[in-house]
Amino acid sequence: MGQLTQEVVRSFSKIENTRQRLLLTRLIESLHNYVKDVELTQDEWALTIDFLTQTGQKCHAQRQEFILLSDVLGVSMLVDEINHHKHEQQTPSTVFGPFYLPDMPVRDYGSAIFSLLDEGQLPLLITGRIVDQDFNPIENAKIDIWQTAHNGMYSGQDPEQAIDHLRGVFYSKEQGEYAIQSILPVSYQIPSDGPVGTLLNFAERHFWRPAHIHFKIQAAGHHDLVTHLFIENDPYLSSDTVFGVKAPLIVNYQHCEYSPEIEEKFNISSAYYHIEYQFVLSKE
Ligand SMILES: [Fe+2]
Repeated sequence: MGQLTQEVVRSFSKIENTRQRLLLTRLIESLHNYVKDVELTQDEWALTIDFLTQTGQKCHAQRQEFILLSDVLGVSMLVDEINHHKHEQQTPSTVFGPFYLPDMPVRDYGSAIFSLLDEGQLPLLITGRIVDQDFNPIENAKIDIWQTAHNGMYSGQDPEQAIDHLRGVFYSKEQGEYAIQSILPVSYQIPSDGPVGTLLNFAERHFWRPAHIHFKIQAAGHHDLVTHLFIENDPYLSSDTVFGVKAPLIVNYQHCEYSPEIEEKFNISSAYYHIEYQFVLSKE
């Protein structure tokens, strides 16, 4: 360690919490090593400061450019990899992404997260159970769901959509059952109008994410699960721009004909698509 690096590290030595001190100390060492390794020029330093400044300036309540930056650099998936290997039966986790909004409406079992379908559009019924690693049902698990509309945009990004459109909170029933009505998600491009967009263009990388539905599932006594369900045969499954795809999260959907039973249970009066998926949480 160089003299300057040592001196800077020492200047933080009064931080009592050892974990916090370690995080900061290692960050300083890594940054100093990087600067020495690449022999960073003054211009490159200024460019980096400017890039990070622009990234911060692009953030607001419904836009998180720093999470997007972490995602396209693979840092989000690296953090995920280190932290989520608790139990082999557990449903794999993936990136949280920048489009989550808290405090969305609590909706009844089987109800829809859209208010109206487009003409000819079929609803997507997602059903299954929330269970623990021993496949015991989990009652009252909180299921937060969010996804894009057919135009590839989330509410909050798109002024045309009500803020709670294609978002909602559900609770699992006694046997862990859940049922949600949505629409098929589409592949979409992450926002390209900020510094992350400039970076991807510069690197000649594409902006696409394969179609997916986001879930955040929480239950007392269990680890939170943040994950997606990806749709089979999407052309971007092998080149997700945020590196988030894991094979067990890829699902297929069935086209189902109108059924009076389904109409009575879920108020679906047409043909519909169906996905069945069991989410497995690990115990704390
Ligand atoms: Fe997403």
